Amino acid sequence: MHTLLAQLGTGIGSSLPLIRGRRLWHPDCEGTLHMNQRSRHLGDLFHRIVWMLAVPVAGCGSSVTVGAETDAATDGGVDVVAPVDRFVPIDAGPLDTGPIDTGPIDTGPIDAGPIDARDCTPRLGTPLPGTCEELVLHPCGIPPAAQVDAGSYISGELCSSLCAPTSIGGGGGGCRRLDPLADGTERVACTTCAVGRRSEGLMPIEGARESGPLGDFFARVATLEWASVTAFERLADELAGCGAPDELVAEARRSADDERRHTVAMGAVAERFGAPVRAPEFTEIGKRSLESIALENAVEGCVRETFGALVATWQSQAARDEGIARALRDIAEDETRHAEFSWELQRWVDGVLDEGARARVHAARAQATASLWAELDAPVDPSLVAVAGMPDRDTARALFSAMTFALA
Ligand SMILES: [Fe+2]
Ligand SMILES: [Fe+2]
Repeated sequence: MHTLLAQLGTGIGSSLPLIRGRRLWHPDCEGTLHMNQRSRHLGDLFHRIVWMLAVPVAGCGSSVTVGAETDAATDGGVDVVAPVDRFVPIDAGPLDTGPIDTGPIDTGPIDAGPIDARDCTPRLGTPLPGTCEELVLHPCGIPPAAQVDAGSYISGELCSSLCAPTSIGGGGGGCRRLDPLADGTERVACTTCAVGRRSEGLMPIEGARESGPLGDFFARVATLEWASVTAFERLADELAGCGAPDELVAEARRSADDERRHTVAMGAVAERFGAPVRAPEFTEIGKRSLESIALENAVEGCVRETFGALVATWQSQAARDEGIARALRDIAEDETRHAEFSWELQRWVDGVLDEGARARVHAARAQATASLWAELDAPVDPSLVAVAGMPDRDTARALFSAMTFALA
């Protein structure tokens, strides 16, 4: 952890839920939340959603050793003293139908089978175990613009077309090119995780599979938090160069400082599970246009970091490991502010970009929303649910549905 600190440098209240029908309502608003109001109310909204989907059944519980009850026994046998079953997810009912038409993305895995060179249809390859990636094979190649160096990330817009036909991630989480097969078949690894704020040029995250699911998870989270430091620092510089309001530039720099703390906090958890945290790596990227910056913010900030803040809020209440819950309480508050910042930034760029660029940014956000919904169909490791408070598949989809419904 000392090494981590050395490399890093130094560096919202809630009322009870008020629900009219199924739409969340704020006492300051006549009606539902609108775009220019949502940034002030995200913290309240997230707490209401968590309240709505959780029923407190025990104010305090007995001490438990997680290793005795879950797979965490193989994760270092960490003794965890925490309230048991503080929250039990309830049936979300119609919320789980979601407002999003996942269409053909949600059709489930396709047996890769033998590749017919005459069939150019993309298909799923052998899964990449222990990663947040799915392999999509393109027997007839990929566009020249996607032929980056093996291992490098491909432009987000191209990922939609390269991943969407088969990957549950749909390309909204980014993708990278792997070495082609001997017969020329191109391999694209499509990201299916919803954690962190990834910025262009980020190289694949190395986890710590040898440390078990909990160690691997928190090692990846810590590295992604670390990558978020770079993302916000770069964003602050870019916004300053674009003439953005000082408040937005200052908030981006403040967010980078938050991410430093998150890296240390999540790194400490990873170390408890015996997992090393590796520094993120970035490839060089050139000067970006405001539209490119806005596209990344729409996908990573307005969709993924916003949902990540809600998930962190849930985890801070549901984690049985008190140390994890405590760390996530601070992180959830910061991440909610980052989500608010993302929406504020989008409001500003909406007023600066021309109509065409604005439409492309909004389309990217809609695509990322649909992709994230599809990703949430994936099962979650039981030890992450039990120890880290990660929402399981049904809970995650209920949280996501409630969030998108309230923000619509
Ligand atoms: Fe963070
Ligand atoms: Fe963040």
